[in-house]
Amino acid sequence: MSTVAVIGAGYVGLTTAACLAHIGHNVTCADIDEAKISQLNNGEIPIHEARLPELVQEGISKQLLKFVVGAQHAVTTSDFVFLCLPTPQGEDGRADIGVVLEVVEEISPIIPPRTIIINKSTVPIGTNDSIQATIQRTDISVVSNPEFLREGVAVTDFLQPDRIVIGATNKEAGERVAALYAEINAPIVEVDLASAETIKYATNSFLATKVSFVNGLAAVCEAVGADIESVTRGLGSDQRIGSRFLQPGPGWGGSCFPKDMQALVRIATDAGYEFDLLRAVIEANEQQFDRIVNKAEALLGQDLAGNNVTLLGLTFKAHTDDLRNSPAIEVAKRLAAKGATLTAYDPMVKSESGIPQEIRLVTSMEQALTGSDLALVLTEWPEFTRANWAGFINTMNGPRVVDARNVLDRKEMVELGYLYDDLGRT
Ligand code: UGA
Repeated sequence: MSTVAVIGAGYVGLTTAACLAHIGHNVTCADIDEAKISQLNNGEIPIHEARLPELVQEGISKQLLKFVVGAQHAVTTSDFVFLCLPTPQGEDGRADIGVVLEVVEEISPIIPPRTIIINKSTVPIGTNDSIQATIQRTDISVVSNPEFLREGVAVTDFLQPDRIVIGATNKEAGERVAALYAEINAPIVEVDLASAETIKYATNSFLATKVSFVNGLAAVCEAVGADIESVTRGLGSDQRIGSRFLQPGPGWGGSCFPKDMQALVRIATDAGYEFDLLRAVIEANEQQFDRIVNKAEALLGQDLAGNNVTLLGLTFKAHTDDLRNSPAIEVAKRLAAKGATLTAYDPMVKSESGIPQEIRLVTSMEQALTGSDLALVLTEWPEFTRANWAGFINTMNGPRVVDARNVLDRKEMVELGYLYDDLGRT
């Protein structure tokens, strides 16, 4: 058992803290948000994340997990300090590492000798060297250990990862971090600091590119009469490509892909390489939002102005409550700009904070579809797939559906009498 401090109780920090306690470490998780910490100490989880409530409860009751306000109250007895801090998009697309460096300055005089600082935040290449320089202590090592946690399945991703990447200058420090994960059965990829930092950006950028590729491919399928699901079945069976992340949608979003794509373009430019491929992918993603709007217009057969449009789903993907950089919101903004009257339903969104003011939020599909001229499925919530669409046909003013997630049964929708469109399916 090691004594571990986790600084930051956001999506990554909270998952890291709860999972490290689950595998037997003694964990103190710190955040500056007092309200969040008191919520957590009462066993309430501020985010929607599968399995997290159970793990936090387990950690608290086994006395392996506690929450404190302020990093300085977590680090004084720790062997390891995980940094799980926000690195938002700053000027010119660069990631803003101000919070990371502030915390490092705060804790460096008080952490015990031989503590290892483990950075999980996504940071520009070279940041972990800057952290080492900021500490000004030769007994402290900095290790990069990027996270690959998908929201919604973050706990499973933590406990059953494809790999654990450990970047270190000091080999012994790297080995000590690897030993922390001894309970987890996954290959360890040991690399230098700069490579670990690059692996994180490379992974997210590659995945975003894969999604944009398949979105483009769906458009081609529509034009040539091929079926995207058949195409991706064949494509994904090639093990060099792989079958995951080939689901067409309204574009990629969330708190990570957009900012990491911008950051990698910026990192490359700063280093003297113009990564035009990634610029094109970012551009293609913007076009995807427009394509969804065009599909709505085409199905209506007229301008959107004055039409009642229903948005089914607002979160950036299913199984999360996260609205940050949601493609659904991007599509909504474009629809609103064209004069559509918007009503939205999302099973996980209960408050209007974070959604554009033009959207009227309701609490059921039935309410959302009443009097609607057209509905768009923008998030792949199972509730939309299972819904009684036969029952809704008379609820709607015009039975038109754009399925921007390819989750409804195309044949059944057409047979029911809907004017229906999706992404590249025949
Ligand atoms: C992503 C990565 O998958 C994680 O490995 C990484 O740790 C995390 O970012 C991060 O950097 O912190 P996440 O933001 O939770 O995780 O979202 P994803 O599940 O990767 O989905 C990203 C976007 O792509 C979503 O908008 C999603 O709907 C879209 N997507 C994904 C598709 O449209 N099609 C697919 O086949 C897959």
